[in-house]
Amino acid sequence: MSKQFDVIVIGGGPGGYIAAIRAAQLGFNVACIDEWKNAKGGPALGGTCTNTGCIPSKALLQSSEYFEHAGHHFADHGIEVKGLGLDVGKMLGRKDTVVKQNNDGIVYLFKKNKVTFFHGRGSFAAVKDGIYEVKVAGTAEETISGKHIIVATGSNARALPGAPFDEVNILSNDGALRIGAVPQKLGVIGSGVIGLEMGSVWRRLGSNVTILEGLPTFLGAVDQQVAKEAHKALTKQGLKIELGVKVGEIKNGNNGVSIAYADAKGEAQMLEVDKLIISIGRTANTIGLNPQAVGLSLDERGAIVVDGNCKTNLPNVWAVGDVVRGPMLAHKAEEEGVAVAERIAGQHGHVNFNTIPWVIYTSPEIAWVGQTEEQLKAEGRAYRSGSFPFMANGRARALGDTTGMVKMLADAASDEILGVHIVGPMASELIAECVVAMEFRASSEDIARICHAHPSLSEAIKEAALAVDKRTLNF
Ligand code: FAD
Ligand code: NAI
Repeated sequence: MSKQFDVIVIGGGPGGYIAAIRAAQLGFNVACIDEWKNAKGGPALGGTCTNTGCIPSKALLQSSEYFEHAGHHFADHGIEVKGLGLDVGKMLGRKDTVVKQNNDGIVYLFKKNKVTFFHGRGSFAAVKDGIYEVKVAGTAEETISGKHIIVATGSNARALPGAPFDEVNILSNDGALRIGAVPQKLGVIGSGVIGLEMGSVWRRLGSNVTILEGLPTFLGAVDQQVAKEAHKALTKQGLKIELGVKVGEIKNGNNGVSIAYADAKGEAQMLEVDKLIISIGRTANTIGLNPQAVGLSLDERGAIVVDGNCKTNLPNVWAVGDVVRGPMLAHKAEEEGVAVAERIAGQHGHVNFNTIPWVIYTSPEIAWVGQTEEQLKAEGRAYRSGSFPFMANGRARALGDTTGMVKMLADAASDEILGVHIVGPMASELIAECVVAMEFRASSEDIARICHAHPSLSEAIKEAALAVDKRTLNF
């Protein structure tokens, strides 16, 4: 007889592994199947986020930022650096160690929570009397069965037609995180989150980076005041960002990659680079899941169709994270995983899509929660706006990092905070206060009345709140 479980989770990324742990905490007998292999063919739990996404990119962003500081900014502090060198191999090795620590951490968490792990590909085999049979194809093949299934199979990088990823010259996020030597010229297609983060890493390490973006607007989904400030800062650092281009033929040759494109004026251009990163978005991954065996519905883009509660068209089959609608973010996947486990237990798990924070880990960092000024205008909502520049913040001056600002938007009548947009130092950490404020439906006055430590960057949040009422104290 096949091994039986209350809950089978397919996929061990942030959506899947967190769902498995939460379900186990709630007393279920849980299995999690994940197929990711490390360089030695062993398991590497944590999905895209841990292996080729959030964690390794942040490791390289940190290392490259230290390099940039040592080369360009330490002198401002009176620190002399002589003979500064770069060992890319060591930097990549450190990144791999950080990844492995995270992989191993999840193995430990599974043991601690008594989640049974299967290394291999999970696919639907059949459903009989309301029990789902799932085939696990790993080193051996076996079939396990479960009453509840949570699909968390994530997403894959989208390729451009005619330019498949070879991960040597034409790189997805995977190859972009393990370029063995700093390319002299690096091209990036897509100035979204990956393009800006990976473009920043390699520019800091010495590449001449050109980013080609199809849309005429830089970071169109971001509050445009913040996006303009970020554009100014990033281009000043040396990132070349061409907007409104139309990419044509891409040739992958022995000496690099050539990209034919029409610029914003429609004039034909050619970009020759040593390596090309293509970061034009990601597509939901259901490869090998065999959804047709049980009649699981996918939409026209291949994502699993779910309702607001992550329920699919099948009883007791749920789907979370990048494989379903909504932003492709690790913390969104995790929140959905927790909520689904709780719903299976008869509880009322909930994800508030209005307060999911976004962070782009460039320098300056860009972070936001809630609505942009453009969205509020389009809705015709009456609002008040307050902003405060880091230039006027004592801690930012002491840090030597005064780029950017905090902007707060609040309802004109009730003063409820509707959105907060930050470009500047440690925006990734500062945004947490704003998420909490919005979850508790705070007003800008609430934040303005709360004591913030001095000197701290968080005072810029308080001052932006004061600015909503046109009464900043330090600007
Ligand atoms: P995934 O993490 O993709 O995990 C899915 C897992 O399922 C994988 O391990 C896969 O091997 C496995 N799998 C798939 N099919 C099967 C099957 N049939 N059987 C068994 N296993 C299967 N988000 C952030 O919030 N912050 C960031 O800083 C951030 N940085 C990123 C940087 C990069 C370069 C990239 C590419 C992404 C980044 N993201 C970031 C996005 C984040 O990685 C994803 O939103 C997140 O990983 C989604 O989690 P998931 O569990 O849905 O899917
Ligand atoms: P993205 O959606 O962020 O950006 C893609 C960009 O490519 C867009 O600006 C788009 O207009 C442009 N584009 C699309 N087709 C194009 C074409 N043919 N020619 C030129 N430009 C084109 O996608 P990206 O950067 O690939 O990242 C995927 C997702 O991964 C992100 O949306 C995000 O959800 C997640 N991610 C999150 C991070 C974070 O939270 N810090 C970091 C990295 C990725």
